Amino acid sequence: MHEPDIRRVRESHARLTDPLAFGTRFYALLFAQRPDARRLFPPDLDAQVRKLVDMLASIVGGLDAQARLQQEFAELGRRHAGYGVSEDDYDDVGSALLVTLREFLGDAFTPEVEEAWATLYGDLAEAMIAAGDERRGS
Ligand code: HEM
Repeated sequence: MHEPDIRRVRESHARLTDPLAFGTRFYALLFAQRPDARRLFPPDLDAQVRKLVDMLASIVGGLDAQARLQQEFAELGRRHAGYGVSEDDYDDVGSALLVTLREFLGDAFTPEVEEAWATLYGDLAEAMIAAGDERRGS
């Protein structure tokens, strides 16, 4: 990711003042669109919401440490293949994330900010899917 996109992601992430509300809304949108994905997660979503929020903060905080992130995401992708997550699931999670960001950022969700988040998610999902494919055996 290039510097202007890193800056846009950082500045817009800093505007998310209620991370738990953000995470809760994200899962509500995801499961509205993909009810069948609900069964992949534990019944009590609170811990999952916190994991999402912490993960987002650590990704945004570590955007310049690309090499370390690549390694972490390969491992995360392999674990996700183990959870039964498919390549298609990544598209639905990506769109739920962008819709939640749009709702929470309002006017601050400019086309440039949207593009920056889409690039970030696309890069991460691509790395996770590629690593997961090794485990899925395709
Ligand atoms: C960039 C994309 C994603 C990121 C950063 C991410 C992040 C995480 C993290 C940090 C965990 C905690 C467990 C671990 O570290 O292995 C987790 C668990 C999980 N994620 Fe993801 N995830 C992503 C995409 C997806 C997608 C596309 C799905 C499909 C619906 C998904 C479903 C799950 C499930 C089912 C668990 C395990 C829940 C449990 O049993 O506790 N994730 N994810």
